[in-house]
Amino acid sequence: MVWRWHGKRSAFAEPVKMDYRFSPEEPNENGLTMADTFGLIDALVQKPLQYLHVSQWEFEKKARRGADTNKARLELIHQRINGKLPLIGVGNIFTADQALKAAQTGWTEFIGVGKTVMINPNFAKLIANGEENKIVTELDPDKADRYGIPELLWNMSVRNQSWLPPVKGKKDEWQAVDA
Ligand SMILES: Cc1cc2nc3c(=O)[nH]c(=O)nc-3n(C[C@H](O)[C@H](O)[C@H](O)COP(=O)(O)O)c2cc1C
Repeated sequence: MVWRWHGKRSAFAEPVKMDYRFSPEEPNENGLTMADTFGLIDALVQKPLQYLHVSQWEFEKKARRGADTNKARLELIHQRINGKLPLIGVGNIFTADQALKAAQTGWTEFIGVGKTVMINPNFAKLIANGEENKIVTELDPDKADRYGIPELLWNMSVRNQSWLPPVKGKKDEWQAVDA
């Protein structure tokens, strides 16, 4: 949560932004299902939140259980929210074209990007300047200085793990995550 500062301690009471981020489903048998998520959404839309934000691996991922499994989770979640709060969707959006395609689904009001910003710290600026062709989709392990990634995260990043950007030359081994 972010609070707007008015210069007086007593006036430190105006919330500016508060979102709620949730994983919509879990793969294990007793894990959360879309039905649970719908119940959570019904409660969250009653709260003084500014956004709802989904955490998942793939933007177009279909529902696994507890809802129409032919439909994308984000489409179903958006329907359930029914305009009461804006939704931020995420999941493996690396390029400007992918961002455009995601935006055109109409399933979310906003699109979040994680991995691509690690390897393109100026992602939004490149798109705004019409320099989409400079966006990279792999992390070059020989160019540590280029990204400004902290050491601990860098050491994990060069191991080609699926929750981090694919490493150059190893995209084929970069496994999809069912999350
Ligand atoms: C370095 C890093 C840290 C993350 N930490 C969290 C976390 O603490 N909680 C969470 O729900 N998701 C976390 N995620 C997942 C992202 O928020 C996002 O859902 C996921 O990366 C998919 O978006 P992307 O493909 O644009 O990265 C993390 C992702 C990255 C790359």
